[in-house]
Amino acid sequence: MISKWLKNARVNTRVFLMEVITIKFILFKKDKKDKEDIAPARVPTLSQLFAPDRVKEYEDHIRIDDMYCRLLVVEILPELLCFGWFNAVTSMAGVTVSVTLYPYTQKEANNQVARNMTVVGSDLHLARKRGETTEIGKLETKYAFYYQLLTDINLRRNNLVAATVTVQVTAPTYEQMVHKCNQVKDILGATGVITMYDRQLEGFTNTLPFLRADLKEVHDVTVANAACLSPLLSSDFTHPSGIYFGKNETGSPALLDLFIGPPRLFGMHMFITGATRTGKSYTVKGITSRSMAHGISVVIIDPEGEYRKLVKSLGGVLVKFKPNMEPMFNIFDIEPDEDEETGRRYVDIAGKSEDICQLISSIIEAQTGEKITAEERALAGKAVRDEYLSKEITEDEESIYLPGGRVVEEGVYVGQSYKEMPTITSYVKRLGNMGATRLANIMQPFCRGGGMGFFDGQSIGSFYDNNLVVFDVSSLKTEFQRTYAMYVMLSWVWEKFVKKSKKRKMVVVDEAWLMMRHKDTAKFLSDLTRRGAKYNTSTMVASQSFREFTTEEGQVLMAQCDTKFFLKMQHNDARELGEIFKLPQGVINRIETFQPGQGILRAGLESAIVSFKGFHFEEYFLKSDPEAVLAR
Ligand SMILES: Nc1ncnc2c1ncn2[C@@H]1O[C@H](COP(=O)(O)OP(=O)(O)OP(=O)(O)O)[C@@H](O)[C@H]1O
Ligand SMILES: [Mg+2]
Repeated sequence: MISKWLKNARVNTRVFLMEVITIKFILFKKDKKDKEDIAPARVPTLSQLFAPDRVKEYEDHIRIDDMYCRLLVVEILPELLCFGWFNAVTSMAGVTVSVTLYPYTQKEANNQVARNMTVVGSDLHLARKRGETTEIGKLETKYAFYYQLLTDINLRRNNLVAATVTVQVTAPTYEQMVHKCNQVKDILGATGVITMYDRQLEGFTNTLPFLRADLKEVHDVTVANAACLSPLLSSDFTHPSGIYFGKNETGSPALLDLFIGPPRLFGMHMFITGATRTGKSYTVKGITSRSMAHGISVVIIDPEGEYRKLVKSLGGVLVKFKPNMEPMFNIFDIEPDEDEETGRRYVDIAGKSEDICQLISSIIEAQTGEKITAEERALAGKAVRDEYLSKEITEDEESIYLPGGRVVEEGVYVGQSYKEMPTITSYVKRLGNMGATRLANIMQPFCRGGGMGFFDGQSIGSFYDNNLVVFDVSSLKTEFQRTYAMYVMLSWVWEKFVKKSKKRKMVVVDEAWLMMRHKDTAKFLSDLTRRGAKYNTSTMVASQSFREFTTEEGQVLMAQCDTKFFLKMQHNDARELGEIFKLPQGVINRIETFQPGQGILRAGLESAIVSFKGFHFEEYFLKSDPEAVLAR
């Protein structure tokens, strides 16, 4: 039973006022006439509570059945605490903080504070004698604090409480337990937490409601500070530096800052899922407009043509794809990359070649149902490299620009300008010449003049300078065309928007399940999130279908999205989601009953039920366009 309880242990923090709650085990004998027949109050030992073989103590952990459990104790408590001091760790699955409070009587508190005052007083006297100016200042402040506290205790305005705090960390493996313990220590920082070496059972005893272990790590705190130790005060979610997201269940505001960084968020990407019409796009639009107000530029890939009103209201550029439109973007555009370790900038031709091979491979698979052969893949890769070489584009950063700037009419000098890049037409021709006839033939419709020739030509304009750019691919009729356009747009966005600066920015992919259907496009999306983080680019992925993300690649992508928003779902989806994210049954049941915009917000280690709220003045562009809904 206990191990089951431990497995389910989540926000399971208990504060026991030992003076108030005294659980006594009274053994009654049949005949209760005689007073002596009633045994004195007795506390059972651990081995009486569990079968002895179920709890095994080791130097730095205990094992209960198949669970690993480590007890940590708070050794240093900062003097100034704020509300919900332990909240960040109590929201971690398998972490339980036990706070044991022993209130002092007025007399005890009085004596304790008076004692401290005497010590500080004599230190102050000595410091004054020695002329230690900095010490004097510190000690005077301390002395004044104790003086005030003593007055407050005597007037019964305040009291002292002896607090012991233990943290119990459970995990299915030893490694996971150690990892989680390190996370707890990192998060608590100034609160010194140490492993209870050779005292694991003693620590465990302290966490049980009816056993009392007098640990030596006792901290005298005021009543106000004791209250701050209790994480029960609020389970609400908020990031102080964030944009307004909506409301917690208690009605308090929930702010979200995807860029807040560790320890609250280890990644800046977000995943939104929920059944149809539950508020995915509404939330995305809201986050977009509010992020833009914080100076964050946003690019949206819009397969449903839903973001027209957003552009109309907030300004920006809407690029609507049509089957026979003139090319505006070149799939071969390339920008320098930066080596993470050395900081060296270089043109990643090998990476680009890999991306284009992935694209061709998914085109071949979608068009013919067959896989690209190893030989074709090798030729496709070589043709990319040769194409760049033919333009004298190498790893050297300067090689993507025309040498020495460019002189236009009347001697006007224009600084760095790009060389003409390879195009699909020249690439396909090269493939044909190299003998990759099947690839060359299948790629024909992607050349200029073909049904999907909109990426075959030199790029025009610099859309990426706008704060909001929406690529609307809803007019492309087949799922394949839309996926292809989404893919190419994303690779173009990667080169021209993401890599351009380290400024904070966002890329939104709505209806991302389209990209998850094929292994290669799915991989591209998860690569984008992984690589985008170093350019401060948050990727927001919204998808109705959650199942597309249960594949291996989907899992990789989801793991990168440190923030997740689970909106209303049908019964089976809610159950599957619950299993994957280890949600308690009660929460799983609630997912089915959520209102539009209401969901479980998981940000790093914290979770809460939060509703995304739109303001009245935002309604016009947040609500879905009825025309776009009808056109689906
Ligand atoms: N947070 C919210 N507050 C109020 N109304 C909302 C909220 N979220 C959604 N709605 C209402 O629900 C409608 C559908 O929402 P939305 O377009 O975001 O659904 P969706 O999940 O993106 O659906 P689909 O899968 O069809 O794209 C909105 O037009 C709006 O009227
Ligand atoms: Mg939508």
